[in-house]
Amino acid sequence: MAPLSNLAARDIETLVHPYIDLARFRETGPLVLERGQGIYVYDRNGKPYIEGMSGLWCTALGYGNEELVEAAAAQMRKLSFAHLFSGRSHDPAIELAEKLKELAPVPVSKVFFCNSGSEANDTQVKLVWYFNNARGRPRKKKIVSQLKAYHGVTIAAASMTGLPANHRDFDLPLPGFLHAGCPHHYRFGKDGESDEDFATRLAYELDALILAEGPDTVAAFIAEPVMGAGGVIVPPATYFEKIMAVCEKHDVLMISDEVICGFGRLGANFGCQKLNFTPHTLSVAKALSSAYLPIAGVMIPEILYQALLDESKKIGVFGHGFTYGGHPVAAAVALKAIEIYGRDGIIAKVAQKAPQFQVRLKAFAAHPLVGEARGLGLIGGLELVADKGTKRSFAATHGVGSRVVQFAEAEGLIVRAVGGDVIAISPPLIISESEIDELFDRLGRALDRTLDWVTREGLTLP
Ligand SMILES: Cc1ncc(COP(=O)(O)O)c(C=O)c1O
Repeated sequence: MAPLSNLAARDIETLVHPYIDLARFRETGPLVLERGQGIYVYDRNGKPYIEGMSGLWCTALGYGNEELVEAAAAQMRKLSFAHLFSGRSHDPAIELAEKLKELAPVPVSKVFFCNSGSEANDTQVKLVWYFNNARGRPRKKKIVSQLKAYHGVTIAAASMTGLPANHRDFDLPLPGFLHAGCPHHYRFGKDGESDEDFATRLAYELDALILAEGPDTVAAFIAEPVMGAGGVIVPPATYFEKIMAVCEKHDVLMISDEVICGFGRLGANFGCQKLNFTPHTLSVAKALSSAYLPIAGVMIPEILYQALLDESKKIGVFGHGFTYGGHPVAAAVALKAIEIYGRDGIIAKVAQKAPQFQVRLKAFAAHPLVGEARGLGLIGGLELVADKGTKRSFAATHGVGSRVVQFAEAEGLIVRAVGGDVIAISPPLIISESEIDELFDRLGRALDRTLDWVTREGLTLP
């Protein structure tokens, strides 16, 4: 093994990294990135990589966007910090909230700002609890999400997340957080069950779950339009329509977690528009500022806002807020990002580029390692399997997904293995047609190198 560079050695001695086998990491060390431009990032040796994951599904406008840099610098010079507590306010937060209300796919009364997707989703839970207390329904508090969902890592958000690694030995999920079935036909559809029938069954199962728990105890259902970290899962076309009907029937609020899908990833402003459903409330983050600075938001409907007013009258204060929620510099950057999305037709262009992206992606379904190639807009996932016929996965200990990531890095492409051995691809929205081709060419070489390795190791043998 090559000696670790000095920076890498210092990293190992100083940082705890999220989402890695910390023991193995001590041997492999980090990939240290130094700069970025367009869809490319560069490591310390100047080697370029296509950032095929937009960082963590977030750098929608790519790297080195001078307009965003300028927006931040100008706001820092003018007013580097102001908060929104106790009646204070500032221009960028007001303007950004107005802009979000204008863009929102459903009627939004107010916007609550925070700093991360997790904080947004934790806030959703607290608002729902507050709401039902205000409405005199103190038992209606349970939150339903889905197996394989990803909603973040703070305690309520992690409870809603439906992935074992976010629960195991963290003593999560908290009581009162339930998980409905995952809308992934390839893995959970029954033999001969159509997409439509699968969606009907999931809605029926959700209905049964709510009835078993007692509808007077279930407050909200939360879902990502397309699931990201759980393995890039695109639900059946009629899934949300059927789920929404169950929510309406039991007076359950529907929260759309738009942290990945919001601001164009699927070729529409919001994922719920692409998946044809009308949530009661939405969480946004990531592309809101194109990840130049952390900012997130909860889009609050009038009915929830009225409850906040009632509780404030009763308690004397709305006791929730983050020091940096709606930070003026982050808000100024988000305003600029939204301006660019509109002015440059970024989201319309995603819709135009999506067919090419999806054709290249889905061509990998023919690759011996790929069980399913799936995606929508500019997001895609390749599910790796040891046996295409039986859909048998590789043992987690073989780390086949990690191998693809490593070979992709060697080819100058950053992708991520999520939800088991699913290779996720989610490039900056500004990617050009020729760059899409280059991305998939590199990914194809990485898959071929992985196949050679798998064959040498005998991992495809039953
Ligand atoms: C759909 C979704 N919701 C919530 C989160 C959590 O966001 P954060 O990591 O900013 O807390 C993520 C992060 O990837 C996400 O993908």
